[in-house]
Amino acid sequence: MNSNGHLTLIGLFGHPIHHSRSPLMQNAAFRAKGLPYTYVAFDVFPEQLKTAAESIRILGMRGVNVTIPHKVDIMACLDELSPAAKLIGAVNTVVNEKGTLIGHNTDGSGYVRSLLEETRLSLPDANVLVLGAGGAARAVAAAMALQGAKRIQIVNRTPEKGRELAERLGTFCPAEAVSYQDLPELVSEADLLVNTTSVGMHPNEQEIPLPPDLLHEKLVVSDLIYNPRQTRLLWEAAKRGAKTHGGLGMFIYQGAEAFTLWTGEDAPVELMRKTIESSL
Ligand code: ATR
Repeated sequence: MNSNGHLTLIGLFGHPIHHSRSPLMQNAAFRAKGLPYTYVAFDVFPEQLKTAAESIRILGMRGVNVTIPHKVDIMACLDELSPAAKLIGAVNTVVNEKGTLIGHNTDGSGYVRSLLEETRLSLPDANVLVLGAGGAARAVAAAMALQGAKRIQIVNRTPEKGRELAERLGTFCPAEAVSYQDLPELVSEADLLVNTTSVGMHPNEQEIPLPPDLLHEKLVVSDLIYNPRQTRLLWEAAKRGAKTHGGLGMFIYQGAEAFTLWTGEDAPVELMRKTIESSL
C-alpha cells in the first residue's frame, strides 16, 4: 500500500477461475515485498474478453495474467508481443506500460528456470525429447529452443501437429518430429524427456505416456502434470535412477517471472512455493 493507502490492481482473466491458486501466491509475494499491488481473479466469459482487456487501460491496472481459455484470443487485444509470446502463439502475462498493452509468455521461461534450478541440466548439451505438441508443449519447447537446447525432438499422437511445432522451432535450434515407433532408440539417446500430454492426469493417474522399461538412469524426466503425489511417470523414472522434475515448479516460476515483469523486482520464490505447498 502506498502512503495514501492506494493499491494498484493486477488481474487474472480466465473461465472458470475459482480453482486458481495464483491470487494466494501473488498476494503473499506482494505483501512480503511491501509492494502496493493487489491481485484479483476475474471470471471472464469468452465473449467479454475484448471488453475485459480494455478495462486494463481504463482502470489503470498494472497488468493481468491470462489463463484457459483466453491465452490465444487475448493476443488480438494487445499492442505488442514479446518474442517468446510470438513464437509460442499464446500470452499468459500482460503488462500495461502507460497505456500500451504488451503480451508476454512466462509459462515456457518459467518452466525452463525451474527445470534448470531443480535438475542442474545443461540445455546446450541436452538432447530433448518432448511428448505431445499441444499448447503446453509449444510453450516449453519454444523456451528451450530460445535458450539454445542442443536438439529438440517431438513425438505426438497426431503426427501433423508434431511436424508443425518442429518447423516453428527450427529457426532457433535443430528440431524434428519423430515417430512413436522409434521411441526405444529415441529415449535411449535422450538426456531430457518431457511429458506435456495429458496422459496420467487425474482421474487416470495410473496411465503412463510410454512403456516404463524405456526409462533409464541417465535421463532427466520432467512431467508437466502437477499432482500432489508424483505421477506414475516420475515414480517409474525415479525407481530406475533417473532424475525427476514435477509440474509444481513451472507454476511457481511462471508466477515469479510475471511478478518481475509487473514490479521490476525479484520474486520471493521460496515464499511463493511454501504458500502453494501449504494450500494443497
Ligand atoms: P495443453 O494445452 O495442456 O497442451 P492440448 O493443447 O489439448 O493441451 O494438448 C494435449 C496434448 O496431449 C496433445 O499433444 C495431445 O495429442 P494430439 O495432438 O494427438 O491430440 C496429447 N494427448 C492427449 N491425450 C493423449 C493420449 N491418450 N495419448 C497420447 N497423447 C495424448
